[in-house]
Amino acid sequence: MKLFHRPTVALALLLAASACSDAAEPEAEAGTPVPPDSLPSENRAEMEARGSAAADALAQGLVGRLAEAIDEQGIVGAVDFCSAEAMELTRDIAEAHDSSLDLKRTTTRWRNPDNAPDEAEARVLEYLEALEARDPGSAPMTLAAAGPDGSPRFYRTLRTAPMCLQCHGAEADLDPEVRRILEARYPEDRAVGYSEGEFRGVIRVGFPTNSSSP
Ligand code: HEC
Repeated sequence: MKLFHRPTVALALLLAASACSDAAEPEAEAGTPVPPDSLPSENRAEMEARGSAAADALAQGLVGRLAEAIDEQGIVGAVDFCSAEAMELTRDIAEAHDSSLDLKRTTTRWRNPDNAPDEAEARVLEYLEALEARDPGSAPMTLAAAGPDGSPRFYRTLRTAPMCLQCHGAEADLDPEVRRILEARYPEDRAVGYSEGEFRGVIRVGFPTNSSSP
């Protein structure tokens, strides 16, 4: 699996961007999206393996529980399930898989404001969205980037499958009861209007910072 596409271009753009620090815009002049700060290469393979295993476990765990909820309770019941359980389930699945990692689902178009990105996450999301805007489907599946204080973070791209559209699709296509619950519970909901296969956000995996100091 490739972490960085076109590393030479990436590096050149990174150097160009840091040459004038005020101009650290996510878009370079030629319109090429600038990747977020990359990581030192030590331990990258190990980090990628752990990060991707944990992110896959979370993505599959959530989809599995969601499909179960839709089966058992129908789509309206599943909205309740999502809003009541998704955050806790995220913590539980992450902990069961590897309790030293910190997992989060985040996106610029959040439904639950608790999932809004921090600054470093926002830079990664903007980069991936810029790639998608130029060429839909081109955002890489995984990416590693520095978090605040330079600590490593691993990202896994999430896209919408047909089942997701029942709650994240065009408002006009939603079940009226689903729409009513979403409007009541998430007055600032930005997570509707998606179509199939669209970039939805990321799972972000945080690693414990180096604990060699006391
Ligand atoms: C039954 C309705 C329902 C379905 C189906 C559904 N979601 Fe959601 N989704 C929600 C609700 C409600 C939230 C907000 C609660 C939470 O998860 O924190 C949410 C939140 C999210 C979030 C967290 C970011 C945010 O916007 O708050 C992501 C990412 C997400 N959904 C992706 C998906 C994907 C991908 C699928 C399909 C595999 C999917 N959802 C299917 C209802 C649904």
